[in-house]
Amino acid sequence: MPSVFFETFGCQMNIADSNMLAHALYAKGYYAADDSASADLIVVNTCSVREHAEVRAKARIVEYVNTKKKSARPPEIWVIGCMAQRLGAYLQKEISGIDRIIGAKEIVSFTQELCGPTRNAEAAIHGERKATGLISAFVPIMRGCNNFCSYCIVPYVRGKETSISAAEIEKDIIGLVENGTKEVTLLGQNVNSYNDGTLDFSGLLKKIHSVPDLLRIRFTTSHPKDCTDDLLDTVAQRPKLCRHIHLPVQSGSTRILDLMNRRYTRETYLQRIEAIKDKIPDADISTDVMVGFPGETDKDFEETLSLFDQVRFTSAFMFAYSVREGTEAAKMDDDVPVSIKKERLNRLISLQTAITKERYAAMVGKNMDVLFLERQRGKQKLWIGQNNGCKRALLACNDNVAGMILQVRAIHSSGMTLVTERI
Ligand code: SAH
Ligand code: SF4
Ligand code: F3S
Repeated sequence: MPSVFFETFGCQMNIADSNMLAHALYAKGYYAADDSASADLIVVNTCSVREHAEVRAKARIVEYVNTKKKSARPPEIWVIGCMAQRLGAYLQKEISGIDRIIGAKEIVSFTQELCGPTRNAEAAIHGERKATGLISAFVPIMRGCNNFCSYCIVPYVRGKETSISAAEIEKDIIGLVENGTKEVTLLGQNVNSYNDGTLDFSGLLKKIHSVPDLLRIRFTTSHPKDCTDDLLDTVAQRPKLCRHIHLPVQSGSTRILDLMNRRYTRETYLQRIEAIKDKIPDADISTDVMVGFPGETDKDFEETLSLFDQVRFTSAFMFAYSVREGTEAAKMDDDVPVSIKKERLNRLISLQTAITKERYAAMVGKNMDVLFLERQRGKQKLWIGQNNGCKRALLACNDNVAGMILQVRAIHSSGMTLVTERI
């Protein structure tokens, strides 16, 4: 039997796509290789969101093709995902030894073809995932993005936004739960703009909430413009919906937000934050942000710092702006020098690191419900889990607690993880 090894870069959507293709290949008779060296097929799933992401993926592909050239049993190499979409056949010219390119827009139809014409890809995963029994699973509920934030490559490489039907999603989740899944994370680039023609996002959440034996529901990424009171009320009123809102802000300056085409201002973003804190007081709020967008002045950057200081996010993904060819922002002058971008990024990271520490430290002594997912490797073998926000928790315990929600007390914070004890 042939074996396949996956290496996945990028976001959770890419992880979900890799899983989808993997299960279609398993259904075709492949098994999962332990490492790339023993694999008959290596699949590299790529990301284009920043230049650095592409540089890393390319370096890895080059490594694989170089080993392939020396190998007695050369593996096939497939490059899939967003960079495969963006560069296409050009990538095969640049790096010789790639056997197949499958762009992000083609992954669903490619998987469909592998599985046969009668079943749609989403249903196929639902069947084939049976073997894996993931405690926490990613479930794409939409594909693509229509927002065209001026800096962003995603709408170009993933195509226009489409929502998967609620009936299909429910069927998929019921199938996962039958096979041991306890928690699902609903995925979309702008998940709260979901609408399949019958249900909006709140409607979908209510429908999924009634799936028996499903313990937790998460979702990402929410766009501030679609973060309605109705959505927050839906989360506040339903226990299975996790108290975690990931709400990318990108910048604290209204002038920059406008240039980014984000469709909200600093003030309306802060109003949404107040609404979250008001309706879901114990919520973890996290964000994405970038520094050094074209035209960002010291004053604009200070506004980002002050917004972070005010909101006090539990965590944040922080980036330096990277020009993406073909986007609207690529026509603007990338005028913030690299050294200033780095300096701003470091200042923001040190501010947020202190806030994250403070947010974790505030949990010490408190009780919380933690879903345990897996055991650490190494000596201590602590169980790793997550509370019903986004905080990581560890527990020393000899029993098998995988897939269980336990009430624990936080006894120590090590910055970004809580050490807990059973109550
Ligand atoms: N759909 C999600 C995620 C998009 S990509 C959203 O709307 O938030 C994840 C993050 O990468 C973005 O939130 C943004 O902070 C960052 N990002 C996107 N394009 C970028 C670019 N050209 N340079 C630097 N960071 C970028
Ligand atoms: Fe990119 Fe904006 Fe769409 Fe997110 S919402 S994927 S940042 S265009
Ligand atoms: Fe995700 Fe990167 Fe594509 S962030 S959508 S894998 S460009």
